[in-house]
Amino acid sequence: MPKEESSISLEEQEKIIHAKQEWTHTFDAVSDLIFIVDNDLNFVRVNRSMAEHCGCRPNELVGRKCYEVMHGTKCAPVECLHAKVIELREPQTAEFVVEKLKGIFEVTMSPMFNTDGQITATVHVARDISEKRRQEKLLAKQQKQLEEINSTLESRITEAVAEMRKKDDILIQQSRLTAMGEMISNIAHQWRQPLNNIGLIVQNLQLAFKSNDLSVEEMDEDIAEVMKVLQQISETIDDFRNFFSYEEKMSSFIVNELISRSLSFVEPSLKRKGILLELDEQPDIVVNGYPNEYMQAFLNIMLNARDALLDHQVTKPLISIRISGEKGRSIITVRDNGGGIDEDILPKIFDPYFTTKHQSTGVGLGLYMAKMIVEKKMHGSLEALNVEDGVEFKIEI
Ligand SMILES: Nc1ncnc2c1ncn2[C@@H]1O[C@H](COP(=O)(O)OP(=O)(O)OP(=O)(O)O)[C@@H](O)[C@H]1O
Ligand SMILES: [Mg+2]
Repeated sequence: MPKEESSISLEEQEKIIHAKQEWTHTFDAVSDLIFIVDNDLNFVRVNRSMAEHCGCRPNELVGRKCYEVMHGTKCAPVECLHAKVIELREPQTAEFVVEKLKGIFEVTMSPMFNTDGQITATVHVARDISEKRRQEKLLAKQQKQLEEINSTLESRITEAVAEMRKKDDILIQQSRLTAMGEMISNIAHQWRQPLNNIGLIVQNLQLAFKSNDLSVEEMDEDIAEVMKVLQQISETIDDFRNFFSYEEKMSSFIVNELISRSLSFVEPSLKRKGILLELDEQPDIVVNGYPNEYMQAFLNIMLNARDALLDHQVTKPLISIRISGEKGRSIITVRDNGGGIDEDILPKIFDPYFTTKHQSTGVGLGLYMAKMIVEKKMHGSLEALNVEDGVEFKIEI
């Protein structure tokens, strides 16, 4: 054909080829699965992603029935959108589980019209939404779990708190056992003297009786003396027993009376070790609380002061106690001159199991218990601070 008669120039032909290549590249570059099927549901064109999903090359699919390739069936499945697109002449979208392609796809099918307005084919754009659905499912499951956790949270917290209370009570009991050991040894000391006295009186009675030298008056006097001593001993037993009885309810008590009862337990051992005790008390302050546990807290503080004084071998060891207060509030301070507590460990002394002592002498529960008794059970406060040459503990309730 003579050059001037050609309807398309070479340059234009090259442009068309270039445009076609560009379009094919774009078509293949899209990660969505794109394919065109004719009215008989034969593949006319498929992009690379679609071919890859089917495990072949694009050309190998052209001319094959789409339902055979996609669904492995002999005819289009009932949910196929093709008929609907033809009927309504507009795009349709639906979700399909395509087992052959191992995934869930969101497919949009659009009609392709010729210049006469007739539909000649449909374009399918399928997006793999398997991962999205998997995530949604996971999210829904987690949401459900969260809702379940939320709905049971309150009861679980209540249970956990009750469990903790129980543990705290057990710890209080344990620490009371430690105090019991201390008290038993003091009782042994406290009783030695009166028991000796009783022994002497009884021996004297026997001697006097044997030598016919016992008047009724003398016997009454001696028996009264024995009874007095026995009374003292029996009071110590009562104190001891009360200390271990369980307190269900709060009760009111006179602070300085309780403190002097507590001191009767530790005073002898302090005396033996040469530790001086100073007491500056304001009488008759009545407060509400758990007296036995309060006593336990106070004793723990006293025993710590004693340990610090002995550890540091202080020349004039001294523990000063001050009791003050007014109208249902009391402040007790226990101060020693045992050298104080290093500032960097001071914030830890109320932590459970914090101790600087050898494991045979301390477990580190004393102050934790004391704090719990005073602050949690009696809503008071217990603090410690370094003063001059020792520590001061302040109990407020
Ligand atoms: N008065 C004090 N002076 C110096 N250090 C003290 C004093 N009181 C407490 N501490 C420090 O605080 C720590 C914790 O005391 P806590 O009573 O809780 O435990 P612990 O006495 O070591 O053991 P335990 O369980 O037998 O009481 C002690 O080990 C000690 O280092
Ligand atoms: Mg202690």
